[in-house]
Amino acid sequence: MVRRPCVRVRRDDAEEVRRRLAREGLLDPRYKPFERDGYVYFPVTGGEGLGEVLEEEFEERAAGPRTLREALEGVIPMELLGKVPSSYDVVGEVAVIELPRELRGYERAVGEALMRLHPRVRTVLAKGGTRGVFRVRELRVIAGSGATETTHREHGCTYKLDLAKMFFNPRMSGERLRVARMVKPGEKVLDMFAGVGPFSILIARLQPDVEVLAIELNPEAYRYLVENIRLNRVEGRVKAIWGNVGDILKRLDETFDRIIMDLPRDSLKYLPIALRRSRAGTVIHLYWNGVDSEEAFKEIGRIAEKARRDLRLLGVRRVMETAPRTYTWAIDMEVAS
Ligand SMILES: C[S@@+](CC[C@H](N)C(=O)[O-])C[C@H]1O[C@@H](n2cnc3c(N)ncnc32)[C@H](O)[C@@H]1O
Repeated sequence: MVRRPCVRVRRDDAEEVRRRLAREGLLDPRYKPFERDGYVYFPVTGGEGLGEVLEEEFEERAAGPRTLREALEGVIPMELLGKVPSSYDVVGEVAVIELPRELRGYERAVGEALMRLHPRVRTVLAKGGTRGVFRVRELRVIAGSGATETTHREHGCTYKLDLAKMFFNPRMSGERLRVARMVKPGEKVLDMFAGVGPFSILIARLQPDVEVLAIELNPEAYRYLVENIRLNRVEGRVKAIWGNVGDILKRLDETFDRIIMDLPRDSLKYLPIALRRSRAGTVIHLYWNGVDSEEAFKEIGRIAEKARRDLRLLGVRRVMETAPRTYTWAIDMEVAS
């Protein structure tokens, strides 16, 4: 054991903080983080801008490659090491990586290196684009068993899902926590494009006094959504409905305090429907894919004018890059009247 500088975070925040520390190169990979009394302790390489830095005893990790590039040293030609992606996703026991054309002949080596780096990983998939209304990824098995059904943990919730049949993006985890933390007691929340439930279920776990309506069109995703609601014991608080959100909401005569529109490619098409289910004070979290959020604002303005509603912008954030210079934007708005 070695005494090292570290930061202490609540268990619910640990995943988000770990990602941020890793992204900023502040997580010290030589030592193993540990959990004690509901807090996780992360060893850090420095203290700049981290708030309170403590000191704790840490166990050293066995020496070995720390990055995918290191794991591939001596395995693929040296001139290709620079092409090895520095980021990839691990969803439960499945890793998903986007490989550049140059590494096509070395996919198996990359997959196996990833499995050595992450001993829990059983399948490695190379990712293509997302397709169709269900936004399912095109995936190719490059190493491991090929099983795509897995169980993923996020912010203390458990999600069963199958990456080959439904959409799931772990890079949205910070967004899900940000939105869930805004929900106040007594709210009625509408999750228009619920997937396997990561917004709805987290909201109900963090806020016991809430009613969430989760709508999902992909029958396979819906089946997992229902199972995840049960797995996370939020049955009384999250109601799942299978079907097209437009058709479902036509049949319901309800308004909501908060509406989540996580369909970044098509969300604006559904904004008129969301506005019909809003009242003064309703907060809408709209996700939109594009180069510049100004483009979305113009279209939102037109839609609101046509619906004779007044929208107040609460905030906008760039969530992630989806293609070169194209981003998913999170746009928070309040219906003023
Ligand atoms: C981008 S995914 C987001 C899923 C979920 N919010 C998450 O964080 O994983 C969009 C989801 O909306 C579903 N969907 C697409 N069009 C829909 C519609 N018209 N009505 C209901 N769900 C729809 C898709 O099947 C997909 O699961």
